[in-house]
Amino acid sequence: MLSSLFVTVMGLALASVPSVSSLGTTCSAPLGGGTRAASDPFWMQSIKHQGIAAFNANPSTYQVFRNVKDFGAKGDGVTDDAAAINLAISTGSRCGGTPVCKSSSTTPAVIFFPKGTYLVKSSILPYYYTQLIGDATSPPTLLADASFSSTAVIDADPGLPGGGEYYTDQNNFFRSVRNFVIDVTRVPPQLSQGTGIHWQVSQATSLINIVFNMSPAANSAHQGIFMENGSGGFMGDLIFNGGKFGMWVGNQQFTVRNVTMNNAQTAVFGVWNWGWTFQNVNINNCGVGFDLLSGSTSDSQKVGAEAIIDATATNTPIFLRTSSSSNGQLVGAGSLVLNNIKLNNVPSAVVASSGVVLAGGTTTIASWAQGNVYTGSNSAGKFTQGNIAAPPKPAVLLDSSGKIFGRSHPQYEGYAVSQFVSVRDQGAKGDGVTDDTAALKAIFAAYAGCKIIFFDAGTYVVTSTLTIPAGTQVVGEGYGTVIAGKGATFQNIDSPQVVVQAGASGSTGTLEITDIQFATIGPTPGAIVLEWNVKPTTQGGAGMWDSYIRLGGATGTNLQTNCPSTGSGGTTNCFAAFLGLHLTSGSSAYLEGTWVWAADHNLDGDGAAQISIYSGRGILSQSAGPVWMVGTASEHHVLYQYSLVGAANHYMGLIQTETPYYQPSPAPPAPFTVNSAFSDPASVAGVTSAWGLVVNSSSNILVFGAGLYSFFTNYNQDCLTPQNCQNQILNIDSTSSVSIYSLQTVGVTFSLSVNGAGVVNQNSNPNGFSATLTAWTRS
Ligand SMILES: *[C@@H]1O[C@H](CO)[C@@H](O)[C@H](O)[C@H]1NC(C)=O
Ligand SMILES: *[C@@H]1O[C@H](CO)[C@@H](O)[C@H](O)[C@H]1NC(C)=O
Ligand SMILES: *[C@@H]1O[C@H](CO)[C@@H](O)[C@H](O)[C@H]1NC(C)=O
Repeated sequence: MLSSLFVTVMGLALASVPSVSSLGTTCSAPLGGGTRAASDPFWMQSIKHQGIAAFNANPSTYQVFRNVKDFGAKGDGVTDDAAAINLAISTGSRCGGTPVCKSSSTTPAVIFFPKGTYLVKSSILPYYYTQLIGDATSPPTLLADASFSSTAVIDADPGLPGGGEYYTDQNNFFRSVRNFVIDVTRVPPQLSQGTGIHWQVSQATSLINIVFNMSPAANSAHQGIFMENGSGGFMGDLIFNGGKFGMWVGNQQFTVRNVTMNNAQTAVFGVWNWGWTFQNVNINNCGVGFDLLSGSTSDSQKVGAEAIIDATATNTPIFLRTSSSSNGQLVGAGSLVLNNIKLNNVPSAVVASSGVVLAGGTTTIASWAQGNVYTGSNSAGKFTQGNIAAPPKPAVLLDSSGKIFGRSHPQYEGYAVSQFVSVRDQGAKGDGVTDDTAALKAIFAAYAGCKIIFFDAGTYVVTSTLTIPAGTQVVGEGYGTVIAGKGATFQNIDSPQVVVQAGASGSTGTLEITDIQFATIGPTPGAIVLEWNVKPTTQGGAGMWDSYIRLGGATGTNLQTNCPSTGSGGTTNCFAAFLGLHLTSGSSAYLEGTWVWAADHNLDGDGAAQISIYSGRGILSQSAGPVWMVGTASEHHVLYQYSLVGAANHYMGLIQTETPYYQPSPAPPAPFTVNSAFSDPASVAGVTSAWGLVVNSSSNILVFGAGLYSFFTNYNQDCLTPQNCQNQILNIDSTSSVSIYSLQTVGVTFSLSVNGAGVVNQNSNPNGFSATLTAWTRS
């Protein structure tokens, strides 16, 4: 989350089929391809719904899965379905509206929309911990009535009658919207309430597989996404047709992958940010691709940094509009990095208020930057507004067209419901109390690779290592599915044990994890929450989407307000994990929308109480790759948020981190100790807070967008203005080959260090609230 100072489909790609030889199990009828009959609905609609919210006040009656038609929605394109849809969302004392509820971990819901056209005359209001999911085989249309006059068809953070909003924008976690067509074309074009989604959200959120249809008229005021702030987040597989703006967006940071804008006046309007990464953007017949000229004067730009990799633009007069720069430095922020931008009849590539900065035409921009560019241990940057050397991009990270490979969240829309097996049907309880280890092991032994394994909503307690065999697909049910490690096995800080293994050590094959949360029930000082071992036989064949590691801060974890920020909770009772996510040396992983969060506050209760819990390490990668980390974040771990040791061939864009708020009291490694078996970073004199990113003995690492933040010293924010909450945050040893672009730091004196010595002082790159290092390469 936050700086409290800041009041601040339809690509139905079939899932890959596991190869029989690689299965770690003995099942006799391998899954093979999907067998859904054309007339069958999406499996999610027809599968038995028996998920539970283990820690809800009324688990026996609380309903996790809700089909909007069961709540009276017609989907006939004529009836106003808004009230019925909102009833489906709000039923069961959920978190939203009044009385004010800022967050809750006990009221998960999946709101399912069968195919059809749902007319709405007012907004759909998804509450906290909600997924809105349309039939992926035939995405339903949400049709705004001509009279529609609310903020947006879907409003993820509505205003409250007396002022303020439902949720705190930087804490508006756990939201997803998937598989819809949102149509506002009936709203008169000149009215801006023709808006698809108001998406003012933070971590653990996604928009996936949505088409936005807006008026293409010259006077169109329609917009696809309206986002004024937050701390996100991931969105991808989106198509915007028409409109004044495809996206009108401001947020601390965000990752956008695979979006297409057709016939918009402006494809992306940036209102403000610290740093955003756009990957695979396709702009056709728009007026302006990216309009970042959002400051109050022509020279003051509030978009801190935009990093765009793999874009195409066709028949669009201006690819990007930025503020001007002069005197060899940025004026009003405006760091830009452009990589592999193919222009086709785009006369101007980059235009500042002073005029054209980079001419366009029909051409490819290989690598271009605006901002200060650094190399090696030279602390002096070179202000650049021009071509820069292109980073090496190992072929294993690229698709056949030379773009960074991407893979959408698998939804198994081609599969029949008979191809799934429910873990509750097979004897797992998911009640947050029963030890489900044996039941889950038996299910994997019997069904891995033969069925898609459906984890009905529930908290599944495991007390020894649970291995998900190579060849397996596991699917959760909204935010309700949690696998939680508990007990003595995970309590030895000197002998850490794995809670869940993605593939046994050395295994090869497909492995897909979607919509699962991994957690611990503390204290668990010796828990390695998720160990990723599997290596796929196809590119990106082992991956995880919309799945999170959530440590403490939620009912049932034993790590809540008993661990207050005042320190009176102690440490031994407040250990949440030894390590969050470990990518081991033989593995390869595609991670999209991954958040490894040691809670800084309690999601339940008032949703604001700060807590001190201790997780040793965030994400450790020793993988030789390929590894893609698309829209990932790691927060509040003691030694580091991301550490790469002996790693190779990683694409990381964007990564976001926060340092624990209690540091430097104690300073790392306390309350842990340095463990050389896990290649912990050597301590550096004067460094008394966690690393955001540390890289050692690694090669071919491409970081395309990073936001590394330190908002506190021992819960005090006086360090923010002088930017000295900590001294260093990103350390690269002298042997690693790393390229870093669009790096934002907050509250840190040195944005980048080499061999433990600060190199780039933030004061050479002031950029509003953050400092931006536009590019750093080894040489
Ligand atoms: C976010 O935007 C809302 C308006 O929608 C505003 O009330 C709030 O103060 C903003 N938050 C920050 C952190 O700027
Ligand atoms: C991009 O999204 C479209 C749907 O908008 C989908 O058909 C396509 O498969 C996606 N491509 C990638 C590389 O994810
Ligand atoms: C890199 O790792 C090696 C081996 O673990 C260690 O000796 C060295 O100190 C590390 N370098 C840095 C800069 O942390």
